[in-house]
Amino acid sequence: MSAVAPNTMRISELYVSADSAAKLKHHAAELPSWDLTARQLCDIELLMNGGFNPLTGFISEADYDGVVENMRLADGSLWPMPVTLDVSQAFADTVAPGQDIALRDPEGVILAILSITDKWSPDKRREAERVFGADDRAHPAVAYLHDKAGPVYLGGPIIGITPPTHYDYRARRDTPNELRAFFRKMGWRKIVAFQTRNPLHRAHQELTFRAAKETQANLLIHPVVGMTKPGDIDHFTRVRCYEAVLDKYPTSTTHLSLLNLAMRMGGPREAVWHGLIRRNHGVTHMIVGRDHAGPGKNSQGQDFYDPYAAQELFREHEAEIGVAMVDFKQMVYVQEKAQYEPRDEVEAGMTILDISGTELRRRLREGLEIPDWFSFPEVVAELRRTSPPRSQQGFTVFFTGLSGSGKSTIANALMVKLMELGGRPVTLLDGDVVRKHLSSELGFSKEHRDVNIRRIGYVASEITKNAGIAICAPIAPYAGTRADVRAMIEQYGVFVEVHVATPLEECEKRDRKGLYKLAREGKIKEFTGISDPYETPVNPELRVETVSVTPDDCAQEVMLKLEALGLLG
Ligand code: PPS
Repeated sequence: MSAVAPNTMRISELYVSADSAAKLKHHAAELPSWDLTARQLCDIELLMNGGFNPLTGFISEADYDGVVENMRLADGSLWPMPVTLDVSQAFADTVAPGQDIALRDPEGVILAILSITDKWSPDKRREAERVFGADDRAHPAVAYLHDKAGPVYLGGPIIGITPPTHYDYRARRDTPNELRAFFRKMGWRKIVAFQTRNPLHRAHQELTFRAAKETQANLLIHPVVGMTKPGDIDHFTRVRCYEAVLDKYPTSTTHLSLLNLAMRMGGPREAVWHGLIRRNHGVTHMIVGRDHAGPGKNSQGQDFYDPYAAQELFREHEAEIGVAMVDFKQMVYVQEKAQYEPRDEVEAGMTILDISGTELRRRLREGLEIPDWFSFPEVVAELRRTSPPRSQQGFTVFFTGLSGSGKSTIANALMVKLMELGGRPVTLLDGDVVRKHLSSELGFSKEHRDVNIRRIGYVASEITKNAGIAICAPIAPYAGTRADVRAMIEQYGVFVEVHVATPLEECEKRDRKGLYKLAREGKIKEFTGISDPYETPVNPELRVETVSVTPDDCAQEVMLKLEALGLLG
């Protein structure tokens, strides 16, 4: 019998035995505790199961400095990405090096104990520039660093008590040791991994199949299901797509395993990191593509990284990573031959067909054809299920304007017109109605108005997510809060801001509720337009005029706008 190949031997984990875990849990319950963020939850899972070997915890300040400056831990080992425990200032003020803290998941389960050795306030600008190449918030990890990550980092070794729980696709998730054991059991000695955060189409299937054939290796499809680039297709949909593609490969040569990694979109550094993580998972080869883990364009509209920088950096460190790079050959469809070929091998004069990611999203959004040469019918069907055309997606119409401007009347007319059309449930969140049912305890201070508008935004975003139509009609006087609501909704569907631009004099003249009179007399304080500001929308999707136009005509204008946006089908 041949010896066990080093890549399939057990790798060390940070978990203690079940007995010790039970005891530690009691001890940990009395420690100060930190609730892990979504990203930290991904990180801790890979720390504990050996995916981030040789790290033994969240990195110390000396390791951090080395990683940021030259991709190396203090002991000299290659590690390109800071894996840090960022916390709030308030929490940081309550703990100190030498202390243990409990790390919990969102339900309060204690996953690990961190023995703090280091506490420091990082220079985030430097981290952005050194690790991601630019201090530019167009880079998702830089935006995360500045806007989401806490200001203080805690470092130190961790003792693993229990892994985070996953309720989805449990059978498809493997720890490094589970994968190593699987390769050992199957007798797979060479394994080429394909890292992805996108659905697989025919080109990817061709490319991965060829990579496996050329390296005479088995194939590991190793998609990231932790955190990917904001705006990516959700992992539930993607996994259903991967499962649909699995049987397009020769039986038992290919394995699909989900990796709960939180990507940073760090291009070259990320490619090296992915290599180390794959090595820990028992892989011998990895496909590195053009613009691997690229974050897209910077705020000047240019690529953050040279498209081949990731391959170069990987190649430079290949021996140390311990995984051989298989460089990605871009596969294109050659119409005359009705087959995929590497772009650089296509004969002159042939017709090359390709559909970009942006074009695919447009076709899905508009319900247009996606040709059979591009993808598998099962994959397209899955994508269509989660990305229905706009005319079947939810959306929000958000009216804003002064009290008495006519928002409610137009909103009511619009609701009736949409109900006449049918097809989607319509909910009207009128200012007065919301204040009665959702915000009855609130007044009209800036703080209370903001809470009120955010509540409306939250409800509208849930309605939009669930393919309904939300019509909101509050005053919503502050531009910043309206922008926040827009962002909440645009995660799920279209946001149509309609400014009901009735001038103050007209609202006051109408004074339908008699409130302006009271406001002028000082009997109502902080009244919008009189004693509290109204920030006029600068760029609403639509502005309606109510002095010379009837509410019904205004509602009709909104309908035309919705039609033009493709929302009515
Ligand atoms: S906000 O600013 O968006 O939270 O306001 P909203 O929830 O739309 O509520 C506005 C309705 O409350 C009545 N009202 C006042 N409006 C503005 N300022 C003050 N101080 C105030 N006090 C009571 C008023 O009738 C508004 O109704 P509409 O339908 O807009 O006329």
